[in-house]
Amino acid sequence: MKKAGLILCLMTAAASWALAGEQASVKRGEELFNSQQLGTNGKSCATCHPGGKGMSEAAGYKEDELAGTINQCIKKPLEGKPLAAGSSDLKSLVMYIRSLAPAGQ
Ligand code: HEC
Repeated sequence: MKKAGLILCLMTAAASWALAGEQASVKRGEELFNSQQLGTNGKSCATCHPGGKGMSEAAGYKEDELAGTINQCIKKPLEGKPLAAGSSDLKSLVMYIRSLAPAGQ
């Protein structure tokens, strides 16, 4: 019985982790920005934009524009697949990039 309890516990933990993964957040955006998983050539956004370099004006873009620019950078420099519009990963990247510049700039 003990074993069944442990398995149930692990399943619950895995399920809540998966749900947390669906939630757009600045932290998730930062993770994606620094990871190589968005592309296929071993580069990350941070390779070319360390610490948000070259993106100080991006925070002022409209959400759609910024999402489109992010996807351009995923397609070309990273040779990856663009993220689905409205997906939590794309939202997370938008949130992270906005967090790099003070509001209103
Ligand atoms: C191989 C280098 C490279 C990689 C990798 C890269 N970018 Fe870019 N990015 C550029 C260049 C070059 C520009 C256009 C020139 C500029 O504004 O610095 C640009 C522009 C941008 C802009 C618009 C900035 C502005 O103010 O107009 C955003 C936003 C952006 N990138 C986000 C990202 C994100 C998010 C990733 C990762 C998914 C990424 N980039 C990966 C090179 C890169």
